[in-house]
Amino acid sequence: MSQASDVVNVINDLREQIHHHNYRYHVLDAPEISDEAYDELMATLRELEARHPELVTPDSPTQRVGGAPLTGFETARHLRPMLSLDSSAKEEDVRAFDQRLRRAVANLDESATVSYSLEPKIDGLSVELVYEDGLLVRAVTRGNGIEGEVITANVRTIRAVPLRLLSSVRPVPSLLAVRGEIYLPIHAFDDVNAELMNQGKQPFANPRNAAAGSVRQLDTSLTASRPLTLYCYDLLAGPTFRTQSELLGALADWGLPVNPDNATADDVEGVLAYFEKMVEERDHMAYEVDGVVVKLQDLDLRDRLGNTAHHPRWAYAVKFQPRKEVSEVLSIVPSVGRTGVVTPIAMLRPVNIGGVTVSRANLHNIDDIERKDIREGDTVRVERAGDVIPQVVEVVETGADRGAPFAMPTHCPSCGTELTRRGPYTVCPNSFDCPAQLIARLTHYGSRGGLDIEGLGERTVTQLVERELVKRFPELYEVTPQQLEELDGFAERSAQKLWEAIEASRTPELPRFLFALGIPEVGGAVARSLARAFGAFDAVRAATPEDLERVNGIGAVMAEEIHGFFHEPHNVEVLDALLRHVTPKAETVEESNGEGVLEGLSFVFTGTLERMTRPEAEALVQRLGARTSGSVSKKTSYLVAGEAAGSKLTKAEQLGVAVLTEDEFVALLAERGVDAGTA
Ligand code: IVH
Repeated sequence: MSQASDVVNVINDLREQIHHHNYRYHVLDAPEISDEAYDELMATLRELEARHPELVTPDSPTQRVGGAPLTGFETARHLRPMLSLDSSAKEEDVRAFDQRLRRAVANLDESATVSYSLEPKIDGLSVELVYEDGLLVRAVTRGNGIEGEVITANVRTIRAVPLRLLSSVRPVPSLLAVRGEIYLPIHAFDDVNAELMNQGKQPFANPRNAAAGSVRQLDTSLTASRPLTLYCYDLLAGPTFRTQSELLGALADWGLPVNPDNATADDVEGVLAYFEKMVEERDHMAYEVDGVVVKLQDLDLRDRLGNTAHHPRWAYAVKFQPRKEVSEVLSIVPSVGRTGVVTPIAMLRPVNIGGVTVSRANLHNIDDIERKDIREGDTVRVERAGDVIPQVVEVVETGADRGAPFAMPTHCPSCGTELTRRGPYTVCPNSFDCPAQLIARLTHYGSRGGLDIEGLGERTVTQLVERELVKRFPELYEVTPQQLEELDGFAERSAQKLWEAIEASRTPELPRFLFALGIPEVGGAVARSLARAFGAFDAVRAATPEDLERVNGIGAVMAEEIHGFFHEPHNVEVLDALLRHVTPKAETVEESNGEGVLEGLSFVFTGTLERMTRPEAEALVQRLGARTSGSVSKKTSYLVAGEAAGSKLTKAEQLGVAVLTEDEFVALLAERGVDAGTA
């Protein structure tokens, strides 16, 4: 083959690969390779195309930015392009940016002074919010920077996003478009991932993916169930301001959330000091930060400096070291989790990732291992985000003496019972006597999100189970201080303290107790909804699948799983025994800012409403705790019928479902303390 056709083949191959990864990343939100590996592919392609310009085609991935939108979302053009930033993790590059900027500013205006706005670079999803006459009319993802996906209905479910701007402090312009970052706070990210893993599903690799995955949902109720939030930081259309600080002040006046951790600096030393401070605080912040954004304060100078082909000249992102490292897979071992699901774990050569020593990583399931082709001896990239279990992202280099592909065992590595399949998962069916499951259940029970029993970590639980001090779950409450004192790492005082902590857990709060039990599908959020809806443990336990389905965020499958858990004979026995030791408190239903006032109800909207659009009405009742549906059934609590209502109205009448006019709907809200005009 000639050399020229070799190059063509390589280029075509690279384009194929990049298209594939673009699709995985932008459309499916399920990347298979790291950003670094992707950047390398792009860089190689760019380099080859630069050397062979005659081979550049209009459809090459180098000739466009971003990826194709999801088929289910409409696209819209941004009022102004949403640019991305030039970035680096090196101090010298930041200094060079400062120098470059100062020179350019001096060229424009010798008397101008340079100062900076400093903002944490949040690991989230960039969004454009458009307000007309103070009302949120459109929310659009960044997309390719020129146009993105219209996600208005989803964004409306985010409580931090005002549906109407405040006009009491500052007059509201007829048109305002702001840019902000939607993100999941770390605790919520951990909850979502814990819930996914609890269901045997693959967790999100980082908060950005979690935010993107939650927002780009055709089912807005899923978005609503994730506690997303946002900070705003830029103006795409609206009035003129002098400085970034002034702009941020105005955004806050209009009721848009602005990050309180933003700061300012007059010189590059100030920039670097802020960066260092963020590096130190990074692990204790409520949200995941991947760097610091440095922006020129003076907005008029910004306009005059303009942009390069890709980035504004007046801003720069200083990046943190990623929470990713390379390590070696020493072995792959199956591990039995709380729900009996057997998960392969990679034992790694210990490596420090962002200040934490990592020696194990979750490989999720056999399909994932096969897809990534991970084997003993391989060098792999490991990623850690938030507090979540580290994950192997990809193989960087295959080992010289590479092991055979990993195979799932046929028998439980903990108790020897023959393993069975549950859907895509391999499970140990011996839920109650399998020591590994007992250890995991008890550890979960005492964990921070559970009953928060200090001192009852995995190490202690393992000893209790292995020494047969606790053979069945409720026996935790029969352990004596003397027995605890015998355990490794315990002395008289620490044993007494742990015993007291166990005793103190006998009257737990209901949501914590529900979470602590490790009911399939029940994470922190669902546990809170259940507690709020039923008020008492006995009521949750006695609930029928239909009762459960009426709870916000619980679908038919989940309802069956929860009901199944409470009626499985072994579970009944264990719970009865446990309740001889434990008395969960009743939950008092709190009602603040309307939250939950429509809990348990289900609405269908039809016809044209006058005060709001149908999606707005749906988002509103969802925010108040109700469920919505597109079709009327016996389960519908109310059909709200606007002008020109058709077949749904007939159906509701046939089924005897209550029908409300729009006025009656507004009155129903008012009865429950909610003003439809401002909510
Ligand atoms: S400024 C022209 N400010 O970081 C303005 N970006 O490329 C460009 N980000 O995609 C963005 N926090 O998603 C800016 N306070 C902040 C930010 C921020 C997070 C993200 C944004 C953007 C990327 C920078």
